[in-house]
Amino acid sequence: MNPANHDLRAWMHEVESINQLHRIQGVPWDKDMGGLVEMILERSKHSPALLFEKIPNAREDMQILCSQIDGIERLALAMGNNPKLGVTDFIQAWRRKVRNFEPVEPEYAKDGPIFENRVEKDIDLEAFPIPRWHELDGGRYIGTDDLVITRDPEEDWVNAGTYRVMLQGPRAVALYISPGKHGGLHRNKYFDMGKPCPVVMSFGHHPLLFIAGCTDVPVKMSEFAYAGGVLNEPIQLVRGPHTGLPIPAYSEIAIEGEMVPGDNLPEGPFGEWPGYYASDTRPEPVVRVKALYYRNNPILCGEPPLRPSAGQGFHRSIQRSALIWNALEDAGVPDVKGVWLHPAGYRFFSIIKIKQRYPGHAKQAALIASQCRPGAYLGRYVIVVDDDIDIYNPDDVIWAMSTRSEPENIDIIRRAWSGPLDPVIPRERKGFNSRAIIDATRPFEWRDKFPAVNAVSDEFKDQLDKKYASVLKEVLQRSH
Ligand SMILES: Cc1cc2nc3c(=O)[nH]c(=O)nc-3n(C[C@H](O)[C@H](O)[C@H](O)COP(=O)(O)O)c2cc1C
Repeated sequence: MNPANHDLRAWMHEVESINQLHRIQGVPWDKDMGGLVEMILERSKHSPALLFEKIPNAREDMQILCSQIDGIERLALAMGNNPKLGVTDFIQAWRRKVRNFEPVEPEYAKDGPIFENRVEKDIDLEAFPIPRWHELDGGRYIGTDDLVITRDPEEDWVNAGTYRVMLQGPRAVALYISPGKHGGLHRNKYFDMGKPCPVVMSFGHHPLLFIAGCTDVPVKMSEFAYAGGVLNEPIQLVRGPHTGLPIPAYSEIAIEGEMVPGDNLPEGPFGEWPGYYASDTRPEPVVRVKALYYRNNPILCGEPPLRPSAGQGFHRSIQRSALIWNALEDAGVPDVKGVWLHPAGYRFFSIIKIKQRYPGHAKQAALIASQCRPGAYLGRYVIVVDDDIDIYNPDDVIWAMSTRSEPENIDIIRRAWSGPLDPVIPRERKGFNSRAIIDATRPFEWRDKFPAVNAVSDEFKDQLDKKYASVLKEVLQRSH
């Protein structure tokens, strides 16, 4: 077993050795830390991972790690990919990895580093430096880059989802789960039977577990078996003494507790990934904490959602683009040449690139991309473009939309899967939204007669590159 695949600390060591971990000391947890994370990501060219140490006005033994995988090299290190891959190759490698996926069941150990400290009597989560991440957050959020672990009471499979978790006192937290997510479906099954829902939460762990927690894994497959399959090596777990639920053996901080039907407290507002405090405050189920476990000098992992243009969320776009591409392939859509959820719009804005083969091909691709499992929730625009468009370059995509699509041909899908985070849907109508299907490919029936593009052709560009090599070098050097 390679510890760098399981232990956050071993992975951080590797990240530090490539100079992508920055240590910052003395930053208060109340708003300053979240504000700084946003400003650093916005202003830095290569968003580094940030480790906050010696946090004032809280227990001194704890550190907070932010922006774990907001860079392609760190993401590659976490997933076992080649760190030198470009975006398309990375997406392709991820597609291959999750295609015909072979899960590897986790292994249970009797003990693990997470049990270095066990507290049941005097639990005080408020003594930890749990951040209020955004200025208008309604409280302190211990869970952003977390795993909420539940078991299906009818079908006996374990889910581990990333859902936000807010402090509600020294030994209580509340969590928000969007409609339709697995953790909420499990909880509702317990509540429908009038039973409490046992739960484990892990608040710091190897980034591969975070990746598994926040991506769509095949239905009824545990995220631990999924992460094991990515590694081709079993994930190491221990059993929670109170719930019997799995806890990652190398987790940094974990709690065990239960949610009881009817025991709700206000949750939110919270700065959410679309860039707003849209879901406001709602009563949400509370977890009463029975036990707290942590390693010596525990590291809390934090992923405060930032306004998308701040430069966060690249890793989410890569994973979801790969999943939608696979879903298109599984549905039999041929000649898909690329899928990209631009991080500024993420789920709301998918771009699909195809080589058109038959009438209706573009529409087929768009409708499936908008409604397959990884694309259905919180979508809004699906844009299909021809294979001469660079889908990672918004200028190119806007050019295709502006010149190859006609607004009268935009299709609207109504009453699709949305949720409380959708900022443009008013409170009383939250739940559904609409989708725009924009075919920005050359119209199939006269594509051969479509006006020619006036850009220099690749062939001519090659000739000019050779012929004017020294002129180009000199002019470009001077203009840099
Ligand atoms: C940083 C981060 C925070 C998230 N917070 C929430 C949340 O509070 N509630 C939620 O339902 N989904 C949240 N998500 C999305 C879910 O983790 C994601 O949809 C995941 O696939 C859900 O797992 P499930 O399919 O097993 O339900 C978050 C994702 C990330 C990356």
